[in-house]
Amino acid sequence: MGVYQLFDHEDFGDIAFQQVVKAVNDNHRPNPTIIFPTGGTPEPLYTRIAELRSFFPMFDYINLDQYYGIEYDDPRSYPFEIEQKLLKALKLKPDLQLVFNATAQANHECHRIENAIRHAGGIDIAVIGIGPNGHIAFNEPKTDFNTRAHLVDLTPETIAANQKYCAQFGGVPPQALTLGLGTIMEAKKIILLTNKPEITLRALHGSVTTDVPASVLQRHPNLTVVATPQVGAKLRLAA
Ligand code: PGA
Repeated sequence: MGVYQLFDHEDFGDIAFQQVVKAVNDNHRPNPTIIFPTGGTPEPLYTRIAELRSFFPMFDYINLDQYYGIEYDDPRSYPFEIEQKLLKALKLKPDLQLVFNATAQANHECHRIENAIRHAGGIDIAVIGIGPNGHIAFNEPKTDFNTRAHLVDLTPETIAANQKYCAQFGGVPPQALTLGLGTIMEAKKIILLTNKPEITLRALHGSVTTDVPASVLQRHPNLTVVATPQVGAKLRLAA
């Protein structure tokens, strides 16, 4: 079992804010590269960043995943969601950020993103969530731990879980572009945001297996877990 630092509190947005700011300060690069996730879990973090925007350090955003075949400003688009919820509040220019073009040829686009990450000096901080099936980004169960950016066929479970965000806009697209587990694991620091007790327990205290992609996080040397109190209580019992 890997070692991680756990922070849990009712005020999830505030502890997430504190941990991201700490990670930036510990990093020492003036403009660190940061992955920010989408979905319901990170919402309180973005609210807090918007409230305390003058205290939030500068960074370069790297897109974690994106539905394939949709336009950048589609209401289901993840980088567009980050632009609306985060970059706008911080007055960061979206055209300077590293984002998947979901209408480009998939292989070409995945190589472009991987090369751009390398040129940017790698990923300093990866803030990520976890899906109900243990996915990280769109790395679904059975994904090899060494994968780089790639095109994914989404599982029926992920499509069902994400309908709540997409149903009114034409449904969940069947495919997505995602950074690979190998790409994400090379981040110098990973901050996992979680409000899901059962799957988080399996990921962090169960066996390291591609059945639960997030279990690869047990091998990361610098992992912080920001959790709701319910998740925290469960993890503490297992530790
Ligand atoms: P959620 O999604 O934050 O909306 O629960 C997490 C994920 O699927 O990675």
